Amino acid sequence: MPSIRATDSSVIDDVLVIGFSKSSGGSKKSPQFNLHSGDLKVDVSSLLEALDDLGASGAADEVIKLPGRASKLIVLTGLGQAPSNNRFAHETLRRAAGAAARNLAGHSSATFALPHSNLEEFAAISEGALLGAYAFDEFRGTSKADRKSPLGKISIYSKSAKKSEYTESLRRSEIIAKYTFIVRDLINTPPSHLTPDSFTQRFKKLAAGSGVKVEILNDTQLRKLGYGGIIGVGQGSANPPRLLHLSYTPKKKNVKRYALVGKGITFDTGGLALKPAQGMEAMKSDMSGAAAVSAAALAIAELGLPIAIDAWAPLAENMVSDTATRPSDIITIYGGKTVEVLNPDAEGRLVLADAMMKAAEVGKKAGGLDGLVDVATLTGAQVVALGTRTSAVMTNNQEFSDTFLKIAQSTGEQFWPMPLPEELRASLDSPVADIANIGDRMGGMLVAGLFLKEFVAPELPWLHLDIAGPAYNDAKPHGYTPVGGTGVALRTLVALAESMASR
Ligand code: BES
Ligand code: MN
Ligand code: ZN
Repeated sequence: MPSIRATDSSVIDDVLVIGFSKSSGGSKKSPQFNLHSGDLKVDVSSLLEALDDLGASGAADEVIKLPGRASKLIVLTGLGQAPSNNRFAHETLRRAAGAAARNLAGHSSATFALPHSNLEEFAAISEGALLGAYAFDEFRGTSKADRKSPLGKISIYSKSAKKSEYTESLRRSEIIAKYTFIVRDLINTPPSHLTPDSFTQRFKKLAAGSGVKVEILNDTQLRKLGYGGIIGVGQGSANPPRLLHLSYTPKKKNVKRYALVGKGITFDTGGLALKPAQGMEAMKSDMSGAAAVSAAALAIAELGLPIAIDAWAPLAENMVSDTATRPSDIITIYGGKTVEVLNPDAEGRLVLADAMMKAAEVGKKAGGLDGLVDVATLTGAQVVALGTRTSAVMTNNQEFSDTFLKIAQSTGEQFWPMPLPEELRASLDSPVADIANIGDRMGGMLVAGLFLKEFVAPELPWLHLDIAGPAYNDAKPHGYTPVGGTGVALRTLVALAESMASR
């Protein structure tokens, strides 16, 4: 991970990053540019001329490098159309800083002079710069030497650099970036190297010394204790399933308690409902929810937030074999509900059902849960409905959902509310078991949500986050988002904990 600091010194790096926008006066043919270098004075006239000559547009994600004088390289990062008050949205700043950092691989250090007039804007810039400086080269062999390493040292130029709130906020950004990188790394790690067991071992190591308690149930224990969902999904694989539980209890007493449950399918072949080969490789990302909630618990602990968090990761590999669950098999979820498995590719909801039941039981014993959030790459229907950059939120508690959506606006992660229409529930009726694991194909994201709702007590505030599209970027990189695992949901889970801890 790169290092980061704030600076107000006029001595700057070899590389200087500043923003530029197109002003409303310009036309597409001859755009009028504005430079935005925040608290740093920069001689702009020659730069503006160069931008014109280069045919720049100033759009977001446009990054232009020019030779400079005081610094060897000037990097102009697009901020899009400037708002009339010249105050850019947090997410615009976060993405622009990220795009610049991403384009600075191979450089050892850079100073970011971007516009900000308060702590939140400063934080967005530092977060974006860190999140953009990511690479996943762990599995490169002979091609490793040709790879440029990510930007190493980040300085954020600010006249408030010495204020303690600013340095404190850098610490938060570092923690966010550190755990986002862990989530991305886990998602990018292929199932040859990430099994349910090795996933738990990684978190055991990460949690060592953090004060976060780690409990791991193996397949023998899971079978004996009645986790029919996790066992049923995992039984076709040579890599046996696990249930990981991370629990963080702060020093402060009488705090709120939330449970986070993440889908942890280390690879989803579809089981006996085998997926087509084309695109199946992306199913190494089917543990994104588990990685996000587990890393979020560690981030919340490292931030020392006064809130109790239980993260649960039901982990299994959904494989094809003579021991795999067959369509028509009936399994018993933790707590006793039976499920007819009509489609073994609808496996996420089965492992989540077990873990959600357990999370509520443990939460009750600890004095009661204030809420439960599950995070899952659950349905292709989510991607069809909302695309690859917006996640869905479903709930049994409108107020919880409204609060969550408001918090998400501050993190820049895009979430959108989706309904759980009662009339779709009947499609999950089974002629032989308590419920079937698939229902109507139309509205498949909502049907999956309705299935999960059966495993949450109505009085427990619950959010279901379907991150199927946004978890994994198999298109081009953009802003601070690389190709591959994105780390989505982690930032908003941490922000939710911060917000709930302080009310
Ligand atoms: N892991 C998939 C969902 C998914 C699809 C995630 C695309 C990311 C990108 C999930 O387990 C699945 O296979 N869902 C099925 C459910 C269906 C059988 C009811 C789907 O969406 O097709
Ligand atoms: Mn599946
Ligand atoms: Zn899946």
